[in-house]
Amino acid sequence: MRATIDLEQQGAHSPIFIGAGLLAKLGAILDDVAPGLRPVIVTSPTVDRFHGEAIRSALGPDTPLLLVDDGEEQKTLDCVSGLIDRFLELGLKRDSVAVIVGGGVVGDAAGFAASIYLRGVAFVHVPTTLLAQVDSSIGGKLGVNHASGKNLIGCFAWPRAVVSDTAVLETLPPREFRSGLFEALKSGVIGDRSLFELIEKRGSSEIRPAGALTEIVERSARVKSAIVSDDPREAGRRMLLNYGHTLGHAIEAVTRYRMITHGDAVGWGMIAANRIALLRGMLSSEEVTRINSAILELEPESPGALEPGELISAAGFDKKFSSSRRVMALPAGIGICKVVDDISAEELEAGVEAMLATWSGSRY
Ligand SMILES: NC(=O)c1ccc[n+]([C@@H]2O[C@H](COP(=O)([O-])OP(=O)(O)OC[C@H]3O[C@@H](n4cnc5c(N)ncnc54)[C@H](O)[C@@H]3O)[C@@H](O)[C@H]2O)c1
Ligand SMILES: [Zn+2]
Repeated sequence: MRATIDLEQQGAHSPIFIGAGLLAKLGAILDDVAPGLRPVIVTSPTVDRFHGEAIRSALGPDTPLLLVDDGEEQKTLDCVSGLIDRFLELGLKRDSVAVIVGGGVVGDAAGFAASIYLRGVAFVHVPTTLLAQVDSSIGGKLGVNHASGKNLIGCFAWPRAVVSDTAVLETLPPREFRSGLFEALKSGVIGDRSLFELIEKRGSSEIRPAGALTEIVERSARVKSAIVSDDPREAGRRMLLNYGHTLGHAIEAVTRYRMITHGDAVGWGMIAANRIALLRGMLSSEEVTRINSAILELEPESPGALEPGELISAAGFDKKFSSSRRVMALPAGIGICKVVDDISAEELEAGVEAMLATWSGSRY
């Protein structure tokens, strides 16, 4: 079967298959990308409930199945170590291929377990959230959280393939769907104007059932693939993917990851970045209005009243060190993005103010 995108990184070939109904073709895809290897399914109880039957019927009823809990709190070294215990109990050898079916949490944790077990066994990502299809399954970053921070433990390793069945997104809760949609919108702004236009002016519930979803996933995956294949180990260009993330991460940290989804936080962070780009003359006020309207159309939840100072220090600035400068990805048009490395605390403050004013004036 022909892949939708042929991604190559560090000499590793990771074809990406995208389309509705691909779960049924999983067996045939494995025959191509992992010939002769024995599959073991790793998924979560939630995903198993919705899609387990389809996966077992594609890979055979006797394929071993391992369940790991998802949810950000489960993405720990304990989870990885538990999975490795199960790999050993099953007697998995290097002729195995882990078929990892789930959102970004299962993908990151089980991918990491597969990439360190016996110094690395083959794995295939079958992402089942929109965020995982457009973002986390692409690029080779794997890992888990530590008590002192997110994604502090991990490695780079590349899957034999990524199989994104857009039909599995039908069972995704609306807030998880919207979270992924913000990453897709981000990809449009940083690298694909037509992708931005596919999402613009449409609410999340309007996009969801539409046939345009496969195109949205494919275009987003192309933007990310182009960036990561130029920068496999995150030395520079990958920073472009952080558009909206400087303040998005700050919102998540200040609200202890409990109030709003990652995507909603990134949506608000994009509004802050747009103001800074406007002040620098990189983006016109018409373009700012257009991007901000597209963000608000998706109805991000507001995280409530937050202190600007807290957000600014969570974003890595400390007012006491006014000489500190920070790197940020800023749009220079719809579909073009630049990494700027001399953002001042004052600029960040202006971005935060614009963002807070927008969410306090928003209906959500
Ligand atoms: N490796 C990377 O490059 C990278 C990039 C971005 C994000 N991430 C990581 O991804 C994680 C977030 O991923 P996520 O947003 O997919 O969250 P997630 O994996 O927690 O999934 C969200 C929820 O959706 C449920 N779910 C998954 N698929 C479903 C389906 N088809 N139908 C119904 N429910 C389904 C899950 O059970 C879970 O409750 C974070 O840990 C983040 O750090 C990694
Ligand atoms: Zn993100």
